[in-house]
Amino acid sequence: MKITIFSRLAIGYIIILSMVVFSSIYELYQLSKVNEVTRSVLEIDNRILDLQKKLTDSLLSLMRYEKKYIVLEDDSLHERFLLATADFKKDLQRTFSLKISPEVQQILKRVERFHAMYHSLVVEEFQNIKNKKSYDTKRYDLEKEDTINKVFDDLKKLEEFSRRDTYNKIKQLDIAVTDSYSVALVIIAATLLAGAVISVIITGNITRPLSVMKRKTHEIAKGHFDISLQHSSLPEMNELADAFNVMCMRLKQVDKMKSDFLSVMSHELRTPLASIQEGTNMMLEGIGGKITERQEKLLTIIAEEDKRLINLVNSILDLSKMEAGMMKYNFEQGDLIPLLRRTLIEITPIVKAKHIKFKGNFSDELPLVEMDREMITRVLRNLLGNAIKFTPNGGIIDVTVRRQDGWIEASISDTGPGIPEEDFETIFDKYKQVEFPGSDKKKGTGLGLSIVKHILTAHGGKVWVTSTLGAGSTFTFALPF
Ligand SMILES: Nc1ncnc2c1ncn2[C@@H]1O[C@H](COP(=O)(O)OP(=O)(O)OP(=O)(O)O)[C@@H](O)[C@H]1O
Ligand SMILES: [Mg+2]
Repeated sequence: MKITIFSRLAIGYIIILSMVVFSSIYELYQLSKVNEVTRSVLEIDNRILDLQKKLTDSLLSLMRYEKKYIVLEDDSLHERFLLATADFKKDLQRTFSLKISPEVQQILKRVERFHAMYHSLVVEEFQNIKNKKSYDTKRYDLEKEDTINKVFDDLKKLEEFSRRDTYNKIKQLDIAVTDSYSVALVIIAATLLAGAVISVIITGNITRPLSVMKRKTHEIAKGHFDISLQHSSLPEMNELADAFNVMCMRLKQVDKMKSDFLSVMSHELRTPLASIQEGTNMMLEGIGGKITERQEKLLTIIAEEDKRLINLVNSILDLSKMEAGMMKYNFEQGDLIPLLRRTLIEITPIVKAKHIKFKGNFSDELPLVEMDREMITRVLRNLLGNAIKFTPNGGIIDVTVRRQDGWIEASISDTGPGIPEEDFETIFDKYKQVEFPGSDKKKGTGLGLSIVKHILTAHGGKVWVTSTLGAGSTFTFALPF
């Protein structure tokens, strides 16, 4: 089953979201535990310590009043003793009312019991004093001391117990916090990692077919319609790929229709154009009778335009043949230099007319190459023709031929307007012409370089251009030897 982009994104987000929710729930649980322990320390252990201190203070006060009363027999001291005893009992009850452990409860019960024993001894002794009755003071003192010491011991135990309990709870808190810190770190790292992995996978899934499509679109822009996009795992992308493939097929059909049309038209035009050329030449030669000067001028223009049309038709037909792989080549071992020299002689009149300075740098000792002389001459004519056409009057054309690792490289440099870098490749496409500001780009048909490229490819060679805008261009072609 193929999963849609929407489902992939939804699943990815659900996974990341669940991890975040899980980690939040865990952290909340740990926080509630921390909260619970903190509250228990504050509300129970701290309170027990406070009350234990109060109990000790009350006990010391009531002992003090008891001792003073026995010496002074002052009723107000008796009353203060009773008040201190009431405070003690009240605080004891408060301690009982806290959420205390059974152990603390045991201690408190002992405190209550020993205090009660002490209290009844004091009450008895006070009674004896009030009734002026003689009694064994020493026995009372000993018994009181014994019971009160037990109360103090237990209060001490209560304090120790609370402190120990507080310490244990804080330790527990520390462990819980450390644990939750580690778990939180692991969860955060896992969430981030999962988020990154999921994002990379999902984004990759989406962008991969898109970048393939982008690449293929560039190919189409260059005029290559033989493209079909493979299906990916994304249904939406597959729909797009299908539409894209249909579009390529249609473009290919339209391109073929256009080429076929041009080829048929050119074929049909060739014969009448040749007849016109022949007729015009005959008339110019005076075969049809004497012509006036004005008629001669007109006939010359017709002859030139006709020649241009014949060249165009031939170029279109040749290019169609080359594209269809039907061009016939007559390969044989040959030397490039004589071809170059012959072409240079051909162009000398135009070079002179434009006052172009010509520089040549080629040795005569170059290896022979397998080539069709006619076709390579055509390449040279085209490249030199362009150099002359685009170089302004008084410019320089430099031709260099050298041998380079199994290749013979010929470069034709000019001081023309140059070619923008983005056109370095497309310039070899048919009908492609660069627009130069302020100049008429329609100086040709835009087929020359395309034919050059086809010829060199058929020779196993290559052609490229380097250029600096405003300074000139260098067209280089290479043939293997
Ligand atoms: N030496 C050069 N300097 C500057 N631009 C050039 C040069 N050679 C070619 N170009 C650019 O490349 C375009 C294509 O060249 P190409 O030879 O294919 O066509 P063309 O010269 O316009 O016509 P054709 O050669 O078919 O008569 C030219 O129109 C021009 O814009
Ligand atoms: Mg040209």
